[in-house]
Amino acid sequence: KMQRFIDDLMSKMTLEEKIGQLNLITVGFDVTGPVVSKDVDVNIRKGLVGGVFNTYTPVAARKLQDMALKESRLHIPLMFGYDVIHGHRTIFPIPLGLSASWDMTAIERSARVAAEESAADGLHWVFSPMVDIARDPRWGRVAEGAGEDPYLGSQIARAMVRGYQGTDLSKNNTVMACLKHFALYGAAEAGRDYNTTDMSLPRMYNEYLPPYKAAIEAGVGSVMSSFNDINGIPATGNKWLLTDLLRKQWGFKGFVATDYTAIPEMINHGVGNEAQVSAMALNAGADQDMVGEVYLRNLAQNLKDGTVKQEIIDLSCRRILEGKYKLGLFQDPYRGVSEKRAKATLMKKEFLDDARDVARKSFVLLKNDKNALPLKKSGTIALVGPLATRQHDLLGNWSAAGDWKQAVSVEQGIRNVAGSGVKIVTAQGANITDDQLLIDRLNAFSGALNIDKRSSEELIQEAVKVAQGADVVVAVVGESQGMSGEAASRSDISLPGQQLELLKALKKTGKPLVVVLMNGRPLTLNWENQNADAILETWFAGTQGGNAIADVLFGAYNPSGKLTMTFPQSVGQVPLYYNHKSTGRPFNDQPLDKYKSRYLDISNEPLYPFGYGLSYTTFSYSKPELSASTMSLGGTLDVKVTVKNTGNYDGEEVAQLYLRDVAGSVSRPVRELKGFQKVMLKKGESRTLTFHLTTDDLKFYNNDLQWVAEPGAFQVFVGPNSRDTQDASFTLSNGSAAN
Ligand code: IFM
Repeated sequence: KMQRFIDDLMSKMTLEEKIGQLNLITVGFDVTGPVVSKDVDVNIRKGLVGGVFNTYTPVAARKLQDMALKESRLHIPLMFGYDVIHGHRTIFPIPLGLSASWDMTAIERSARVAAEESAADGLHWVFSPMVDIARDPRWGRVAEGAGEDPYLGSQIARAMVRGYQGTDLSKNNTVMACLKHFALYGAAEAGRDYNTTDMSLPRMYNEYLPPYKAAIEAGVGSVMSSFNDINGIPATGNKWLLTDLLRKQWGFKGFVATDYTAIPEMINHGVGNEAQVSAMALNAGADQDMVGEVYLRNLAQNLKDGTVKQEIIDLSCRRILEGKYKLGLFQDPYRGVSEKRAKATLMKKEFLDDARDVARKSFVLLKNDKNALPLKKSGTIALVGPLATRQHDLLGNWSAAGDWKQAVSVEQGIRNVAGSGVKIVTAQGANITDDQLLIDRLNAFSGALNIDKRSSEELIQEAVKVAQGADVVVAVVGESQGMSGEAASRSDISLPGQQLELLKALKKTGKPLVVVLMNGRPLTLNWENQNADAILETWFAGTQGGNAIADVLFGAYNPSGKLTMTFPQSVGQVPLYYNHKSTGRPFNDQPLDKYKSRYLDISNEPLYPFGYGLSYTTFSYSKPELSASTMSLGGTLDVKVTVKNTGNYDGEEVAQLYLRDVAGSVSRPVRELKGFQKVMLKKGESRTLTFHLTTDDLKFYNNDLQWVAEPGAFQVFVGPNSRDTQDASFTLSNGSAAN
C-alpha cells in the first residue's frame, strides 16, 4: 500500500520537487552550526524542502506545515526534527549519566517521556540515540553517548529506539529516532572534535560498530552520517559505509540524513569541489542534505553531467517519503498536535517524577569513607562551590528545549529533602574557570556563567569561613554545562579553574568533605580521591537534578550507578579502557621491571575502572560456578553467582560478567562485558544469579571479518566492576551442541 501511494505521488513530482525532499533545513533560534538556511518560506512553497529542524511548539509546527500543505503544489507534509537528546522539556541526565544507571527500563522510559513530549510539541523526528563508542575523555561529546563498551552500548541503543519509536511509528505519541553519528565519530584522533578516524576493520566490527548495528536491528527509522572521515573517506561520502555495510550487510531500510553541512565540509576534507561532493554523497547513500543545500544547487546539473543517475535521486526521495508515510504524516500531517495537548503533556508531574527517579539511578558513588554519606538531617551544612546554587548547568549540554529556570538546584533540592532541621550556609568559593577566553566562549555559546569578580583568594577565604562554622562541607564542583558536548574538547580533564585549590582549603578546616561532581566526561581526580571523605558523581542530572542529588545525599535513595567510562589517573594515559589487548609485554605490577608496556611515572591502572561504583551498603560475591567445564559449539553454559547484601542498607547492585578468550587466531581483549544484572537486595538478603552464555557470546570478527567462536580455553569473570572479579574457566569444544 505504501509503495503504491509513493509510486503515485512520485509520478507527479518534478525533478526539482524530488530534490526538494532531500533538503533538510534549519529554521529558528537554536542553530548548531555556522550556516542558517535561507529563503525558508519561498523554498517551502516551491516544494524544495523535505524536512525542517530547530523549531517546535504546536504554533510553529502548524504554521510551517500549513505552508507546505496549502501553498506547495503537491501538498507534501514536512517532517520536523530536533535534537531531543536526553529529554525534550523535562530533561533527564545526560546520556553518559543515563548509561551509568545500567537500567534499561529507566533508559527506555526516559526516551518514552521524550517522545511523548516532543510529539506533543509538534516534532516527528529526534536526532538520538547517539551511540558512538568513545574511549577518549578529552572528547566533549562523550557526554552524549553511553561510554566505552560495545555490549552495554548496544543494549542502550535498543532501549532508546524502543522508547522513542514504540511499536507503531504511526501513533502520534511516537517519534522517529535517528541513529548517530554513523560512524566512528567517537574515535576522533586526540579526542579533538571532528578529527580524523583511522581504524582497522576488525577493530571497527568488534569494538565500535556493535551499537549502531543493534539500533538497526531494533528498527531505527533513520541514520545520521558523521562529520569525520574514515580511513580517508568522509563518512558522508562513504559508499562502503552508507550502502555496503549499512544497507547491504545490515539490511537498513530507512533514510540517511547527513550531519550539519557535512556535504559541503567534504570540500575541506579535500575530496572534491561542490559538484563532486554532491555526487559523491548521493551516490554513497546520503539521502538528505542537512543545511548544506548542496543537493539543491547541484543535483540537477550532476544528473545532466551523468555523475548521478535518476534512479539514485528517485531512491533517496522514496526513502524520505517512506519515512513520512511510516510516521502517518500523509494521513494526519499535524499528528494531533494542539495547544491543549501540549499543555497537558509537557513537564507533567509524572514526567518530573520519572526524571527524578532516573537521575538518582544515574549517580555513581566514587568514594565513601567512614560513612560520610548519607548525611544527617540535622546540624549545619556548608554548601559551597560554583555549582551549588546554580540552576543553569544542571540540564547539561543538548538540552535544547529545556528551560534551566525550571531546574532544581542542589541548594533547593537539599532544602526540599532535608527540611527545616538542617541549616544551610552557602558560598561560591571559586569560579568554574578564571580563563577569560574560555569564559567568553562559554558565555557566547551556552548561556551566562556566574563569574564572581573577587580574587580567588577572597572567594576561597569566604568559603573556608562558612565551612568552619559547619558540621559538614558539601562542595559542588565540576564543569559548566558548556565544557562538554559538541566542539568542547579539553586537553586537561582535571577540575577547571581554582576549584581544586578551594577543595584543598576546605580540607584544611578538618570538617568532613563531601564532593558532589557535575561534569560531562571522566575527570582526573587523584587529589580528590585521596582527600575527600565522599565523592558523588552526578553528571548533569537534568530538571530534577537538585532533588535527586539530595535524595542520595540524605539516603532516601541508595546510589547504584556504575561507571561506563574509565576514569584515568592522568590524561597522559588516554585512551584508557578496560577491554584492551594484553600486548606481548604486559605490565605485572613489578615496579622495577623495565621492558614492559608501562609508563615510567605512573601505573597503568585507572583511577576508577569501568563498571565501578559504590553503594551505602556492601555486597559480597561468591566464586562463579559453571554448569559444565565444557561448552560445545552451538551450545550453552550457565554461570551462577551468589550476591549478598552484607551491609546496613537495602540497595541495588549491578553484577557484571566478563569473558576472556584465552588464545585465538588473533589477540583478544583481556576481558569483555558479556552480561549484567541489576538486582535489588534487602539488607542481609542474598540471591543466586544465573547468566546464560551461548556460543554467540564467545564470537568475534576475525581478520577475515567472519563472526566466529574459536574452540579453546575461556575465562569467566564475575564481580561488581571490571577489576574486582572472581573467575572460573571452561573450554569451548569443537563437538556439536550437546544441549
Ligand atoms: O544532531 C546534531 C549533531 O549531533 C551535531 N551537529 C548538528 C546536528 C543537528 O543539530
